[in-house]
Amino acid sequence: MTAAAPILSVERLSVEFLTDRGWATVVDDVSFDVARGETLGLVGESGSGKTVTSLAIMQLVPMPPGRFSGGRILFEGTDLVELPEKGLQRVRGNEIAMVFQESMTSLNPAFTIGDQIAEAVRVHRGIGRRPALDRAVEVLDLVGIPSPRERVHAYPHEFSGGMRQRAAIAMALACEPKLLIADEPTTALDVTVQAQVLTLLRELQQRFGMAMLFITHNLGVVADICDRVAVMYAGQIVEVAGVDALFQAPGHPYTEGLLQAMPQLGRRGEPLAVVPGVPPMPWAMPAGCRFHPRCAYAEPACTAGPPKLDTTRPGQASRCARSASITLRGSD
Ligand SMILES: Nc1ncnc2c1ncn2[C@@H]1O[C@H](COP(=O)(O)OP(=O)(O)OP(=O)(O)O)[C@@H](O)[C@H]1O
Ligand code: SF4
Ligand SMILES: [Mg+2]
Repeated sequence: MTAAAPILSVERLSVEFLTDRGWATVVDDVSFDVARGETLGLVGESGSGKTVTSLAIMQLVPMPPGRFSGGRILFEGTDLVELPEKGLQRVRGNEIAMVFQESMTSLNPAFTIGDQIAEAVRVHRGIGRRPALDRAVEVLDLVGIPSPRERVHAYPHEFSGGMRQRAAIAMALACEPKLLIADEPTTALDVTVQAQVLTLLRELQQRFGMAMLFITHNLGVVADICDRVAVMYAGQIVEVAGVDALFQAPGHPYTEGLLQAMPQLGRRGEPLAVVPGVPPMPWAMPAGCRFHPRCAYAEPACTAGPPKLDTTRPGQASRCARSASITLRGSD
């Protein structure tokens, strides 16, 4: 039996930025697939390249200072890197939609929420203003905005942070995208609202069967919402696994570090652990395995050459030269 073709295939993607120190590769040879209806989590510390990867999928990397230095981004078999701007406009906001960490990145303060959602629907669906506004009311209702018929005329600043993020999600969903990219969509919200928005995303995803690329630095959120996870470190994918496998038997020491750094239930009085050390700067990547200066399992062989992302178990791959000889701790 052949598996269904993934809706998104990122193949050997590399993105560079021009810095004071020359071109720096911030996304380096990144490959992953997202299946139809699946939620893939993309996790990693700040600066690991998660946002640049998602912007690259949408063809929104600012150029300059950025540039593609290789790779393909196949969405339903079409390479978005090669697609002319007109074709991209049809895909963006329509077939692939994005929700950002800060809702004001998605919403324009100068227009009402309803007009913004309606405009997106009008452009992509070619329908009139009235039915487009009706659709805006419908999606605001769907994401739990009370009295949507009245609130559709509100401006973004008249909504609370949580309501704005719901409105941004409503805008993303208005055209029923096949793929939703959510970049830290709940980080700016307080914990209770965060949980509500996550529940909402999960429900909507199940209802519409859309695929989701969910970017976060929070493994707790990953456990809640994702089917599979890709872990990024210093611009590279260092592990890909199903959520249960990743939590029970991580394949990369960095993943183990992230799991150990998660706040544990019942240990609230203890200080929060972090992965010791700091990630490298893009223009000063360590030789061999990029994680070796922070890795408790490092040995001289780890600096001999860059490890490959190899399959370690069915459905799990790790970029670690020692993966066959070390046993890592899962979450307690
Ligand atoms: N416009 C830009 N110009 C130059 N460098 C950039 C630009 N955007 C991102 N970078 C660099 O690319 C690298 C990856 O950044 P990115 O924003 O993708 O990280 P991230 O994983 O999303 O981090 P965070 O968790 O903080 O959001 C960083 O080193 C960052 O400084
Ligand atoms: S290759 Fe070596 S340094 Fe890198 S993660 Fe594996 S054990 Fe650690
Ligand atoms: Mg980011």
